[in-house]
Amino acid sequence: MEALLKSSEASHLADSLADLGVESRELHRPWTQCHLRKYLLTRKRFHLGPTVDDMALCNPGDLVADLKVDEDLAKKLVDGAKEAQLFEKRKTAIQSTWKTVGDSLGVEATKLFYKRLFEQYPDVVPMFGDANMDEQAEKLLKTVSLAVEYLKDVPALIPILEDLGAKHATDWKVQKEHYDAVGECLLWTLETGLGDAWTGDVAEAWTWVYGVIGSTMSGAGEKAYFEKRKEIIQSTWKTVGDSLGVEATKLFYKRLFEEYPEVVPMFGDADMDKQAEKLLKTVSLAVEYLNDMGELVPILQGLGEKHAKEWKVKREHYAPVGASLLWTLETGLGEAWTEDTADAWTWVYGVIADTMADAGDKAIAEEEKE
Ligand code: HEM
Ligand code: HEM
Repeated sequence: MEALLKSSEASHLADSLADLGVESRELHRPWTQCHLRKYLLTRKRFHLGPTVDDMALCNPGDLVADLKVDEDLAKKLVDGAKEAQLFEKRKTAIQSTWKTVGDSLGVEATKLFYKRLFEQYPDVVPMFGDANMDEQAEKLLKTVSLAVEYLKDVPALIPILEDLGAKHATDWKVQKEHYDAVGECLLWTLETGLGDAWTGDVAEAWTWVYGVIGSTMSGAGEKAYFEKRKEIIQSTWKTVGDSLGVEATKLFYKRLFEEYPEVVPMFGDADMDKQAEKLLKTVSLAVEYLNDMGELVPILQGLGEKHAKEWKVKREHYAPVGASLLWTLETGLGEAWTEDTADAWTWVYGVIADTMADAGDKAIAEEEKE
């Protein structure tokens, strides 16, 4: 994304170094634009003054030798120009072929697209529920057209895609892998619509632009989904804490030992009231630390290691604990236990358990090596 932003900015570059992110004070001598223009003009291949294309043809070695700029800067200038040139090439390919598809197929293209999507990836059908698919096709057409149009102003496009991605994730549970499916079908539709005009360069340009759109939307979606789950977890944990407190964890152990008596001996002669306190504290900590996953991970790894080494807890033990935890929350929350709440807790327990179990496996493997 950064590269895209940079290159689009650079696309406005005509003869200004500043547009390539280079300040003149970065040059060893006070090489102003004017000097550079003269320099480039004396090299015969530049007859119109330096443009992105000229710069892209330049060899960084020339700049180093003749302008005495340092190698990093020379590389930055030439790479920036190459990127900008490639961006222009892709933009032209995308805009012209989108026009062709629009002229020949129009909204039929998006209907073709949904037909393909639903045939190849039937899993996504329920996501669309009772959406009117003709209207949906219109919307998709409009959005892709908008995206194609906005390629001239990428910085303005990004927040639109981010909002759209957040909505896709939180309202319709669209995830990363769905973007791959949609991308494959979009490219197939374009290929079908364009026939012979679908060349290698055109395919490359569309693959690239869809990659940018898809990763911007799915990245923003992941972030929004994480925030939503975090909020659910933190608020429901507070509810359970307020109403049940440590009773919740006692309830949890009762359930665990009843449903999975095979884990009872692991706890040996542990004081189960204290144990309940400890568990409550750790879950509270984990819930709190969702604000800072970077801090949480090493704590969980340490805990996972201790579980594996001291109490012989294995990966398969995490599932019964998870089931009992979810049951406890469901019991404690009553009506407040919704589908979204279940989803959020299942997810967070999965992350915690995987982190602990992975660290446990690693610790055991290292122990066995010694
Ligand atoms: C390039 C990527 C995509 C673009 C540009 C796009 C565009 C749109 C737009 C503009 C809407 C209407 C939003 C609204 O009504 O507020 C929409 C809705 C929707 N999109 Fe996407 N979308 C993309 C990817 C996906 C993916 C990967 C999926 C999942 C397979 C998906 C599933 C949906 C669903 C389920 C709706 C709601 C339909 C309804 O019930 O109204 N979209 N999309
Ligand atoms: C989300 C997962 C889990 C969390 C957050 C968690 C948390 C904790 C904590 C904080 C302690 C006290 C550690 C200490 O005293 O240093 C502990 C101890 C213990 N945990 Fe876990 N645990 C988890 C999963 C499991 C699983 C899957 C098992 C096996 C069924 C298990 C069995 C034990 C045992 C046997 C002890 C030691 C009790 C004692 O003798 O003091 N835990 N756990």
